[in-house]
Amino acid sequence: MEISNIILLLLQMTVTWTSGYDITEAVPFVEWGEKGGRRFLAPAGTLTFDKNSMCGAPARTVGWRHPGYIHTSYLKDLWPDSLYTYRLGHRLMNGTRIWSKSYSFKASPYPGQDSLQRVVIFGDMGKAEADGSNEFNNFQPGSLNTTYQIIRDLENIDMVVHIGDICYANGYLSQWDQFTAQVEPIASTVPYMIGSGNHERDWPGTGSFYGNLDSGGECGVPAQTMFYTPAENRAKFWYATDYGMFRFCIAHTEEDWRPGTEQYKFIEQCLSSVDRQKQPWLIFLAHRVLGYSSCAYYESEGTFEEPMGREALQELWQKYKVDLAFYGHVHSYERTCPVYQSQCIVNASNHYSGPFQATTHVVVGGAGASLSEFTTSKIQWSHFTDFDHGFVKLTAFNHSSLLFEYKKSRDGNVYDHFTISRDYRDILACSIDNCPRTTLAS
Ligand SMILES: *[C@@H]1O[C@H](CO)[C@@H](O)[C@H](O)[C@H]1NC(C)=O
Ligand SMILES: *[C@@H]1O[C@H](CO)[C@@H](O)[C@H](O)[C@H]1NC(C)=O
Ligand SMILES: *[C@@H]1O[C@H](CO)[C@@H](O)[C@H](O)[C@H]1NC(C)=O
Ligand SMILES: *[C@@H]1O[C@H](CO)[C@@H](O)[C@H](O)[C@H]1NC(C)=O
Ligand SMILES: [Fe+2]
Repeated sequence: MEISNIILLLLQMTVTWTSGYDITEAVPFVEWGEKGGRRFLAPAGTLTFDKNSMCGAPARTVGWRHPGYIHTSYLKDLWPDSLYTYRLGHRLMNGTRIWSKSYSFKASPYPGQDSLQRVVIFGDMGKAEADGSNEFNNFQPGSLNTTYQIIRDLENIDMVVHIGDICYANGYLSQWDQFTAQVEPIASTVPYMIGSGNHERDWPGTGSFYGNLDSGGECGVPAQTMFYTPAENRAKFWYATDYGMFRFCIAHTEEDWRPGTEQYKFIEQCLSSVDRQKQPWLIFLAHRVLGYSSCAYYESEGTFEEPMGREALQELWQKYKVDLAFYGHVHSYERTCPVYQSQCIVNASNHYSGPFQATTHVVVGGAGASLSEFTTSKIQWSHFTDFDHGFVKLTAFNHSSLLFEYKKSRDGNVYDHFTISRDYRDILACSIDNCPRTTLAS
């Protein structure tokens, strides 16, 4: 018998938590296993950061508070779709074990697996006080509504992607704990993937693409330490991740993305390396609006986007047939027609079918922060706008059917939706600028 083409694939789940135990005080680990089955122990690593890794005030001064110890454990060799339970442990030096309560999750589908897969996407959520106490400026009034709606629907959600402007701690570090406590019911049950935004990263003189004060001196350190991302360099914050039939390419707008940069190479690599027969649903995400937005701010800039966004990337989106591009930063909801070079390639619709034509761009930064106004002019590519708090849910039924839903955070109901129906050959088919212009074959 010949055994060939063995492919090793590790399906894994990463668990991250914070404690007060330094590595000299206790050994962190996760006890886990299939629901009702054998228990395993997985070791955890420990990271922290000190005041000197903050880039400025208030993070380095009045906003500083020691973050504690951030533990990360990789649970490996998971059975696709199986239910697991786990609890966090610390073994003290005298042998006593300290335990968390028990949590559970469902392992990811095998990459390319044909099954129901549901992903929630939003940006700019932040946090708030349920009783209004201790609220500094109430800048994220929609945050709790969004959190509650997601928790309410959690058994119908497989993964969450929060594309930047995570908690708006802005250098007041204790607010990270407030945020992680708020999202714990979600983040302890389904993968909570993050992107980085201006409020995580920007600080003058630290290499961020924008030299403003939006991170309050954090310069990305709390975000990249408290949230695990499968990035080659967690400080750079761009990465690719597959979930079943989805490929997500997560860019980082607080670092340069233009042609010739390291990030541009990553984006092209992420988009070009996907096998669309396995991962038909190709999604691009970034914090600032690199595509299209008709919010009043971008209108006043005269760009209807973050300057240099689509100019740099639209050929890649078109060439690699990106289905959907999501952004935050603008605190509202907007959906375009399938658009390329600012022209609708097909009219917007609630049902798309057949060959890929162009990318639909979606702004979904209304998860919590104070709402952003739209222009009053009619913009041709802008199909649907909503000046309210909300989030998007994608449902892949199978390799040929995707449902997109925009839900308001106030009631969880669907206010905009569309479907994409198509077969693999429809992805291979050519349309504008997405196949070689000439070919030698005939
Ligand atoms: C072990 O140490 C912890 C923390 O110092 C203490 O609370 C506990 O009583 C100790 N247990 C034993 C068996 O000595
Ligand atoms: C798009 O809609 C416009 C106006 O409703 C119509 O004139 C045009 O023919 C439509 N284009 C396509 C490609 O269906
Ligand atoms: C894919 O899912 C859609 C929606 O549930 C269904 O109508 C369609 O028949 C399915 N297609 C295949 C090939 O299973
Ligand atoms: C949150 O939801 C409640 C209940 O629907 C609604 O009354 C309230 O206005 C919402 N808050 C915001 C800021 O949208
Ligand atoms: Fe932002």
